[in-house]
Amino acid sequence: MAPKITVIGTGYLGATHAAAMAELGFEVLGLDVVPEKIEMLQRGEVPMYEPGLEELLRKHVAGIEGASGRLRFTMDWAEVAEFGDVHFVCVNTPQKHGEYACDMSYVDSAVESLAKHLAKPCLVVGKSTVPVGSAARLAARILELAPAGAAAELAWNPEFLREGLAVQDTLHPDRIVVGVGSEHAEKLLREVYATPIAEGSPFVVTDFPTAELVKTSANSFLATKISFINAMAEVCEAAGGDVVKLAEALGHDDRIGKKFLRAGIGFGGGCLPKDIRAFMARAGELGADQALTFLREIDSINMRRRGQMVEMAREALGGGSFLGKRVAVLGATFKPDSDDVRDSPALNVAGQIHLQGGQVTVYDPKGMANARRLFPTLGYAETALDAVRGADVVLHLTEWREFRELDPAELASVTTTPTILDGRNALDPSAWRAAGWTYRAMGRPAA
Ligand code: UDX
Repeated sequence: MAPKITVIGTGYLGATHAAAMAELGFEVLGLDVVPEKIEMLQRGEVPMYEPGLEELLRKHVAGIEGASGRLRFTMDWAEVAEFGDVHFVCVNTPQKHGEYACDMSYVDSAVESLAKHLAKPCLVVGKSTVPVGSAARLAARILELAPAGAAAELAWNPEFLREGLAVQDTLHPDRIVVGVGSEHAEKLLREVYATPIAEGSPFVVTDFPTAELVKTSANSFLATKISFINAMAEVCEAAGGDVVKLAEALGHDDRIGKKFLRAGIGFGGGCLPKDIRAFMARAGELGADQALTFLREIDSINMRRRGQMVEMAREALGGGSFLGKRVAVLGATFKPDSDDVRDSPALNVAGQIHLQGGQVTVYDPKGMANARRLFPTLGYAETALDAVRGADVVLHLTEWREFRELDPAELASVTTTPTILDGRNALDPSAWRAAGWTYRAMGRPAA
């Protein structure tokens, strides 16, 4: 019989994983400790914007007309322990307040709450991004707490999904990495991932620390690529070069590759920034801090780009103070196709200008509610056109398709000064210039 699956934590990762497991044909029980989230999910609603996720949930959540009924949700740990053969732990590991280290309290508490009820043989599978060494520690904790003793095993299976592409990444992963302590655990995970494996996803079997490190090193590599091209943007700005052309030329070398070389205001979100910081903190604890000192530079290049965008805006407004200047900001989320504003470079830039006296009006296709909650003092508009109306300068800070499809001529007619600064190098400079705009982008010559 197919193993029964539980998913603990129903955020971006957990909700997507639960729906994807149901889609693959498993019986799935999801758990969260927040009642409102469970109520929403039971109605087939998703607490965040993630393309395709709501459709997938509605296809499987029990009680919804026409659904397979393979996916249910609960808040009851005992029910989860009784139901599952494989328990996926998908809770988040945010950055600790005022520290680089990550906060493991949600993972620790989830594993402990579950372990106390584990009375039958099962596999607990960690998916959260954790400091290396956590899996071994959690395995010992399960052994200590679980009534089933050694029959309740642990495995580590990091998740590489990207927000905005979470469904696709979960159903068709680039690779599946599992850190296991036994052949039985490997066999069970091969069974769970049989479909993607059959469709060609490589299955990498390793030990606990290596599995944990694959995730943190992958995110560090991606962050490094982005900060590398942003460092080149700084040099281009000083030397009069064009970072977009440079990236294009670099990308033709397939040892370098084209992806993740888009220069701009840098990376944000709930993963890359906090993961590189937590990695540095952990390396320090292990006495290996020297190995990762370069990540400190990656982080500071990244943060510097936000400041550079503020300076570009100041310069576009004639230098000096932002007082009395109207600044339109297109984009609030940390990336397109998401409503996530965690550590968003766009909102950081908007916030800095606002604090310096600028009159900022933000528009974002999906991130308005979250942005309003986080930055209630900024101005907001319901459309891009309304945000731009009367603006002295327009900042393009998140590369939504909607912004690429705007009509520059229509927008030019409602601004006071048609000047646009492209913080993502994603707009077509010739189209904007042809419509009368002064177009400037990060790391590119003025015209
Ligand atoms: C990332 C990893 O890609 C994913 O594998 C991991 O599981 C979680 O962290 P995500 O946070 O969804 O995913 O976003 P990602 O697409 O990686 O983008 C991160 C940030 O980098 C965004 O702010 C994006 O705008 C920025 N970015 C990306 C650039 O500035 N330039 C690029 O070339 C690519």
